[in-house]
Amino acid sequence: MLDVSKIRADFPILSRQVNNKPLVYFDNAATSQTPEVVIDTIVDYYSNYNANIHRGVHTLSQEATDKYEIARQKIQAHFNAKFSHEIIFTSGTTHSINLVANGFSALLKAGDEIIVSALEHHSNIVPWQMLCERTGAILKVIPMNQEGELIMETYDKLLSNKTKLVFVNHISNALGTINPIEYIIEKAHAVGAAVLIDGAQSCPHIKPDVQALDVDFYVASAHKVCGPTGVGMLYGKEAWLNKLPPYQGGGEMIAEVSFEKTTYADLPHKFEAGTPNICGGIAFGAALDYMNAIGFDNIATYENELLAYATEKLSTIEGLKIYGTAKHKTSVISFNLEGIHPYDVGTILDKLGIAVRTGHHCAQPIMDFFCIPGTIRASFAFYNTKEEIDILVAGVKKAKMMLS
Ligand code: ALA
Repeated sequence: MLDVSKIRADFPILSRQVNNKPLVYFDNAATSQTPEVVIDTIVDYYSNYNANIHRGVHTLSQEATDKYEIARQKIQAHFNAKFSHEIIFTSGTTHSINLVANGFSALLKAGDEIIVSALEHHSNIVPWQMLCERTGAILKVIPMNQEGELIMETYDKLLSNKTKLVFVNHISNALGTINPIEYIIEKAHAVGAAVLIDGAQSCPHIKPDVQALDVDFYVASAHKVCGPTGVGMLYGKEAWLNKLPPYQGGGEMIAEVSFEKTTYADLPHKFEAGTPNICGGIAFGAALDYMNAIGFDNIATYENELLAYATEKLSTIEGLKIYGTAKHKTSVISFNLEGIHPYDVGTILDKLGIAVRTGHHCAQPIMDFFCIPGTIRASFAFYNTKEEIDILVAGVKKAKMMLS
């Protein structure tokens, strides 16, 4: 059981007012809020040991290097990677995906096939389309049904010995569907394809075990798990990371440089050109510590309660349609009010202090599937409450009255 009022006291922002109302923050799928302990980690870094890493013999540089590498080990432990050098710090999920997509330019040939899903965020569509343009590879799409679930029978048929890569998100940001990634990975491996799982939306709710999953690449962002923006990670199996060429050239990623020839550094530095987000990486580690202390099983149980409660309450509103009713889903509810634009509802909710996201959620193909311009999306975290959901439901009713 979670002590939610104690947890809420860890988040300074949750006690602020918005438009003279207590903030109700239901935009957690866009970014999570930051607990005091992570804020303190950031302040401590800039107050006490701000320095560049892996470069200086001086004390500050060594302290910063040690803490940054300890953070890498925390991320390794969290995801259960075999080696810490399989964890690459990036600026976030999008950067991680682009790094892999760019690397595969060197490994694919015309006619090879890449599979993505109908539930993808634009960040897991566009880099692969760009990769196809560069290589002549062909993009195939696993379709979805009306509940927002991927159709596995079609996936089975799309797979062949031409399939080289499969890219699917673990959880859909727009609908909350939890995809059957174990099945997807096993089937892809059976035809010799590599798999990248986009974990941006799963990591706030689930603790993935990359070895148990046997996944080739897994990517995530710190800001979805109570860490800062601008930092994330790429997990890759050692053999794959050794096979991929570097993404960016620069300092840190080299072994030796001369005008005749440059050799590259070993993992993980081969993929970490330039001065990284040092403070962000250290704060990423602190954020995972914070969430692990609460416990992901506790988080999932509580968030499922919030999801069931909100689904039941919102469903009583006449003319409200929920998009994404998968059997396995996480605490995300996308909905619309009949005949009313989602943006208008979002604007009224904001006046009531309620933060939701409206629009296509960077997943236009999903909106096209349902023939809608967008949705209102409420996404819950472990620090939200049923009382806040009651405020949302009252707000939606008010918006409906004002806009009908
Ligand atoms: N991808 C983030 C979202 O779903 C920004 O809101």
